[in-house]
Amino acid sequence: MYLSRYEEAMLRGDYGDAIARAMQVIVRVGDVLKADKLLDIETAHIAGVSYLTIGDPGLEYLEDLAKSNARFRVFTTVNPVGIDMLNDWGIDKEFIDKQWRIINALKSMGASLWLTCTPYEYLRIRPRTYHAWAESNAVAYVNAIYDAWTEKLPGPFVVLSALVGKVPRYGLYTINGRTPTHIVRVKGNQPITDPLIAGLLGKRIAESVSDGKPYLVAKLGGNAVIKQLLASYATYSPHAFIVIDGITPNYKEYFAMMSRPEVIDIDINDIIKDAKTQARNFDAVFLGCPHYGIDEVLSVVNYVRNRGFKRAKKPIYIATTPFVINSLSQGIINMLKDSNIHLVLTTCPVVSPFLKSVRVNIVATESVKQMYYLPKMVGINYISCDGIECLDLAFDD
Ligand code: F3S
Repeated sequence: MYLSRYEEAMLRGDYGDAIARAMQVIVRVGDVLKADKLLDIETAHIAGVSYLTIGDPGLEYLEDLAKSNARFRVFTTVNPVGIDMLNDWGIDKEFIDKQWRIINALKSMGASLWLTCTPYEYLRIRPRTYHAWAESNAVAYVNAIYDAWTEKLPGPFVVLSALVGKVPRYGLYTINGRTPTHIVRVKGNQPITDPLIAGLLGKRIAESVSDGKPYLVAKLGGNAVIKQLLASYATYSPHAFIVIDGITPNYKEYFAMMSRPEVIDIDINDIIKDAKTQARNFDAVFLGCPHYGIDEVLSVVNYVRNRGFKRAKKPIYIATTPFVINSLSQGIINMLKDSNIHLVLTTCPVVSPFLKSVRVNIVATESVKQMYYLPKMVGINYISCDGIECLDLAFDD
């Protein structure tokens, strides 16, 4: 792989031990992947930072890096962690302490502690710029909605990339690697507006194209639905790359690049038929996977208002971002709490013990990504529900 003089100096150790070690890994991985050179990245997004998932080895690794004076060279954000900064939910103190040590290590290396899986909602990212992101839903979103280029990278690799500000050029960092191989046409006259249906569609697309790259032709009714589709697609896809007709910047160019694509037709009515909620046995509703933005939270506020500010019979937990919390008045946050709706900050049920701590064993959720991970990661079962129907379940149960 070609290295510039500056990159060779980093590799030699001219910029310190931590940079040299990071470069060694990046160059080795680049060689294995047959990358021809390194690319400068503009941002990095680190995932895999919950104490629940990385434990003591991950904590010690990050603290060692921080102690060696390693500093991120690009703007670096961080995914949700294992604790909620608004509420403690009775989580074990040792867990909280160790989670804070991870957060502090990342902070001292220069990370911006957004602690959200939707950093893309707060960044203006230019098309055809390079990034090193972990967190599959975010990777799918920046590729599909901004045509910003990132591979679905492992969390520890992103830490190293952020330290040197570089990634090897391979796969989705090349135009060849981004050429769609399948046209997926979704039949249906109405735009898709139901989050659960969008999530199930994302899963169906990933299963239909396997490791192929889809060019999707579908009517999608808004950002909330796009987030669900992409999060679910990315959960089931090995690479998380998809082009959306009429939405992805440069989509016409992507269309023209295809040579003899396979065409797959999906009838949305088949998915709707399969999506009916069966069971009604659940302990709580969870919304906010991916983290809810301000529009999604405000639609819940309006729902509660339309319900005459009644109290839900089952608790509703909504994961969201510091930006949303800072945009809401304390009055609205309290009003939601009085209705048994709890905003959860900086975390996610699949990387946190918080649902178990509040004795939730079965959750009602619209998120196909949560359905995949909850049983595997934290032993929580689910029933599926769709958007407003999830709230109806909690209020009417
Ligand atoms: Fe975010 Fe957790 Fe879902 S990190 S995308 S809320 S599984």
